[in-house]
Amino acid sequence: MAKVIGGVFTSHVPAIGGAIAKGLQDDPYWKPFFDGFKPVHEWLKHNKPDYVVTFSNDHGLNFFLDKMPTFAVGAAAQYDNADEGWGLPIFNSVPGSPDFSWHIINTLVEEEFDIVTCQEMLIDHALSIPLELSWPDLKSYDFKLVPVGINTVQHPLPSPKRALALGRAVHKAIQSWDADAKVLIFGTGGLSHQLDGERAGFMNPDYDKFCLDNLPSNPDALTQHSALDIVELSGSQGIEILNWIAARGAMGDPVKEASRNYHIPISNTAAATVLMTTEHALAPA
Ligand code: DHB
Ligand code: FE
Repeated sequence: MAKVIGGVFTSHVPAIGGAIAKGLQDDPYWKPFFDGFKPVHEWLKHNKPDYVVTFSNDHGLNFFLDKMPTFAVGAAAQYDNADEGWGLPIFNSVPGSPDFSWHIINTLVEEEFDIVTCQEMLIDHALSIPLELSWPDLKSYDFKLVPVGINTVQHPLPSPKRALALGRAVHKAIQSWDADAKVLIFGTGGLSHQLDGERAGFMNPDYDKFCLDNLPSNPDALTQHSALDIVELSGSQGIEILNWIAARGAMGDPVKEASRNYHIPISNTAAATVLMTTEHALAPA
């Protein structure tokens, strides 16, 4: 059966793409953020996934405000990067796995999640940035991607409780996938940030710490707040934490926090990178 080996959780600020393109990883502004990926790189040397299942929000590339699925699952044979600029060169398509995607989709529908299935999906900065951060030297990806999209953009937003349940149902699907395969989970976005309106620039380190402290061993704690509570606590884009909550659910239990980095600010965002591992991971030698 397929096994979850770990989860990479990271912010997806587009300006990071510009910094990668310009080679600014050791620049004083960027270094504290990029250093958070050193333990992730070390771990990924020893842990090569066959599949990467990602939880992120689309920023207007696939879905716009006129048509906004609450939960969407990709079932494409390949995913093309079509980001909206900021300097990161467009990279090669990432291979998909229609078989694994449809297994996840069928399981989610059996579990009574009324999802949208997408036989085409473009990759925006919510995935391109985390992929480039995790595997900076790879020219093409040798794992297969299953992207899960969560609406964090257009109200009404799904509740944190529902996002966690979605992730747990994805975990059930992974566990029942009859393949000797290693699965890595991604959760992207956050932490606290608000890009527009009267509170533009708002961040909340106290709420971010609450999330980081509880997500590994007590993810249900994050469901005590409604989506609107989180918008208030974390900013109108801080609600991207829903992606992290779903991703944590998809890891199953128990998980171990292997590394954590929190740096404020990167652009307008309280940026964080966390690596969580499971009993199926290999430790770096
Ligand atoms: C920024 C953060 C985001 O999550 C995003 O999608 C776009 C911009 C920012 O802080 O600049
Ligand atoms: Fe975002």
